[in-house]
Amino acid sequence: MKMLICVLAFATGLEASAQSMTTATFQNLSQTVFAVSCTSCHSSQNGEPPEAKIDLSSFAAVTASNNQVSKHTPFIVPGSPETSRLYFAVQSGDMPATENGSKGKPLEPEQIQAIYDWIKDGALDN
Ligand code: HEC
Repeated sequence: MKMLICVLAFATGLEASAQSMTTATFQNLSQTVFAVSCTSCHSSQNGEPPEAKIDLSSFAAVTASNNQVSKHTPFIVPGSPETSRLYFAVQSGDMPATENGSKGKPLEPEQIQAIYDWIKDGALDN
């Protein structure tokens, strides 16, 4: 319930503070994490699939690539961040990568937590 009130408060006008925090919705992750740190590699360009296979540019793209590339080991298992490679990759610091393939600067702890929470809450289009 607390969570719900919090989300509603953000939705109804506290936009300035919402922007500085990473809340566990896809919209927020998309804008504050994926677009900033991931879609340079994880997004389709001109109809070509992303080199890094997983497309994090929209909810539809995430769902499609989750179904397509990862039938056996899905990178998102709704409700189960511990077995989701998306969470594992950022939590371990393997992602974001850099252009030369080495590890990039890890995400902030609250960004990693937001990814955890979003998956835990069912990885919804919210
Ligand atoms: C510089 C390019 C680049 C950036 C930036 C990047 N990735 Fe990746 N990512 C890759 C490549 C290339 C692979 C495929 C690696 C492989 O198959 O060994 C990959 C693989 C992955 C995988 C699958 C890992 C697995 O278990 O097989 C996940 C999940 C992932 N990236 C998430 C992210 C997230 C989340 C971000 C942003 C926080 C991000 N990546 C940023 C290049 C990138």
